[in-house]
This record gives sequence, C-alpha cells and structure tokens, in this order.
Amino acid sequence: MTAERLDGKKIAAEIREEIASKVASFTREGNGTPCLAAILVGEDPASQVYVRNKERACEKSGIIGRTFRLPDSTTQDELLTKIEELNQDQSVHGILVQLPLPKKGNDGKGFDERAVLDAVCPLKDVDAFSPVNVGLLMQGRHRFLPCTPHGIVQLLHRYHLATSGKHVVVIGRSDIVGKPMAMMLAQREGSCGADTANATVTLAHSRTTNLKEICRQADILIAAVGVPEMIRGEMIRPGAVVIDVGINRVGDRLVGDVHFDEASEVASAITPVPGGVGPLTIAMLLHNTLLAAELQNQANAS
Ligand code: GUN
Repeated sequence: MTAERLDGKKIAAEIREEIASKVASFTREGNGTPCLAAILVGEDPASQVYVRNKERACEKSGIIGRTFRLPDSTTQDELLTKIEELNQDQSVHGILVQLPLPKKGNDGKGFDERAVLDAVCPLKDVDAFSPVNVGLLMQGRHRFLPCTPHGIVQLLHRYHLATSGKHVVVIGRSDIVGKPMAMMLAQREGSCGADTANATVTLAHSRTTNLKEICRQADILIAAVGVPEMIRGEMIRPGAVVIDVGINRVGDRLVGDVHFDEASEVASAITPVPGGVGPLTIAMLLHNTLLAAELQNQANAS
C-alpha cells in the first residue's frame, strides 16, 4: 500500500484564504484590524523562524502582526510587565509568548513559564494555554482551541476522515498537543461537527507499556513525541491514518516522529514532514486572532 499524502500546506492555504476574506469583511464593517502580538525572548533560532513565519502569515491575511523581541537578559518581572501592557492595549487582540523561554533571566533565575502564560488575559490567549481556556475546552464549551490540535481536526475534516466511533491513539501527553488533542477528539461535538469528534481515544506516553501493540490498534495514529522517526512501520495497523506532529532536525534533514517511508507502505494516509501539520498551526493561530478580535468587540459593545 502506498499511503495518500495529506497535504497540510494546501489545506492551510485554503483556511488562510477563508480567514483573509473574513478579516476583510470584519474591517469593512468598521471594526479595528485584528492584531496579534508575539513576544520573543532571546535568540533561539527555531523560535525566530516560527515568529517570522507568523509575521508573514499575518500580513498575508490582513492581520497586524507585531513582534516584541526582548533580550536574553529579560527578567520575569520585565516580561510580566510587557504582557500586562499588551493586556491593557485595546489595539492588540491576541498575545502569544513564544516557547521555549530561555533557561535563565539576568537575575540568575529561570522563567516561571506557568506564571508567564497565566498572565496573558484569557480573552487574548490565542494559544489557548490559560487555565480558563483549557477548562472551557474540557467542558466542551471552548472559546479558543489550541492551534496544532485544531489544525489536525481541520485536516481530518477537510479530507473527510471521520473519527466518530474510531480508535484514535495519541502518543505524547504535552499540554500543547497531546492532552488537548485527546480531549477534542473524545468530545461529542467538535469544532468541525460530530464526525470529527466522538472517537475512542487512548493517550499513550513515555511510561506506556506495550506501545507497539497499542499503536497497532489505532485506526488513526497521532504521534506527538518529539523523537525522530520513533514510530516504525511495524507499529502501524495496515490501512490506518497517520498524523505526524513531530518536527525534528537530524543533521540537515527535517524529519517527523514517524518513519515516513516505512509508514507509507502500511498506512492508508499520512501527513508528510515538512508540509503536513506544521502549516496548519499558523493557520489556526490566525483563526484564533480573528476570533479574539470578534470576542473583544462584543465585550466592548456590551
Ligand atoms: N513554540 C512551539 N510551538 C508553539 C506554540 O504553538 N505556541 C507558542 N507560544 N510557542 C510555541
């Protein structure tokens, strides 16, 4: 079997066009242009690339993308002050603190990442990291959805790959991908309707025993572990759908968490790396920024 390639780049372009058109109507109706503020602390090369890609994507969609580049020497208090300033700024609708934060501030202490993320106003929390937004998601009455899992739901939906009644195995229990992914797919009503929800979900992680056997039970296998090519062909059930969230640099190659060539021989459909899940994350960030602008408009009007 040679698996169908699920083209995340194409689907992301489609979603970005839809957002651009919604942004144009929103501003035509006399609303302020949606604005995303990204805070980048330090010089991490991968983070610099992400932030530049976000700036470009904002520009193409008619969203204002502002980036605040703070030096490595920034302290926790200085970062919290910046976040509070952006919380108060009515022209800023979405705030994103690029992760990972540098290991140490110039006071010799590391950043308290939890406290930093908690400081972002929940109505501007376009990453959906705040406990308020995580709680709303848990209860099935989400406001913002985390960008990567939401991008995966969009991809499955737009390729007509239903999850309802299927066994989905998510590998990796991060707050950014694994946990919210499992929650979103287990719900009755998803962001793209009931067909791309209602799954029976297994959340596997580093202490899972018999990982291979569990993976082989998956109709849909979602790998978000951050270990290059860890998922081999023998771990995949013939005909399964494989979603690879990993982006790992190995020498001068970018590879996923799935061994692409082996998996392509077994799966019915698979996302490539690059060009699979990655582009969808930014598309859903733009979606959340527009939603944030709409919500703040409503809040200001009432
Ligand atoms: N670093 C890598 N991915 C992400 C993300 O989705 N959001 C933020 N804020 N930082 C990241």
